[in-house]
Amino acid sequence: MEIITKGSYETKDLGRKIGAEIKIKLDNARPKNASIIALIGDLGSGKTTFVQGLAEGLGLESRIISPTFILMRKYFITDFEKTPGSQPGDESNSDMSSTLEETQRYQRGEDVIPKKIGKESELYFYHLDLYRIEENVDAEIENLGIRDIWSDPENIIAVEWAEKSHEIISKANYLINFEHISEDIRKIVIMKNE
Ligand SMILES: Nc1ncnc2c1ncn2[C@@H]1O[C@H](COP(=O)(O)OP(=O)(O)OP(=O)(O)O)[C@@H](O)[C@H]1O
Ligand SMILES: [Mg+2]
Repeated sequence: MEIITKGSYETKDLGRKIGAEIKIKLDNARPKNASIIALIGDLGSGKTTFVQGLAEGLGLESRIISPTFILMRKYFITDFEKTPGSQPGDESNSDMSSTLEETQRYQRGEDVIPKKIGKESELYFYHLDLYRIEENVDAEIENLGIRDIWSDPENIIAVEWAEKSHEIISKANYLINFEHISEDIRKIVIMKNE
């Protein structure tokens, strides 16, 4: 599938659609392994913009910050709709408010184990950026614990500069190529590997 976007909003919207598609699939059936979205393309071609939409489509409430300086960020996705009668920030549901608090702790980079609010509703989103890795990409990726992360179907992994890792490319469920056409125009090619 090939799409031309005419502004960052359209790229974000495309990400949102793919995110929602992945979420629906995962709610229906869990695959054997994590879902990998490999993003390829030059500087400023729209990868992070797409990931921001992708995260929204998956149901992530927090803002996606580019992980360029720390290689990887972890977020967790709480499916508020699946908990009857509660809304994000609803203090009357103690489980929900502690989950929100834990989300915020996650956002601050604190290592907390989220409370389970139902097995099916628990998903984790990892955002990686391999740009700064110059050599020994495989070793670096192994150090990040990618193999363990990949072995868990509750994980969704979006990888910028994925072309640096043959392993990531070979395991990817979605391979998405970004091309800078002009200031506001990008060509985005989506390949699904199902
Ligand atoms: N059609 C478009 N799609 C996406 N971004 C666009 C588009 N038109 C303009 N832009 C702008 O291009 C920039 C894309 O930046 P973004 O950080 O998403 O790129 P990136 O591929 O993640 O770059 P990097 O390799 O540095 O991480 C943003 O400033 C965005 O506003
Ligand atoms: Mg980026």
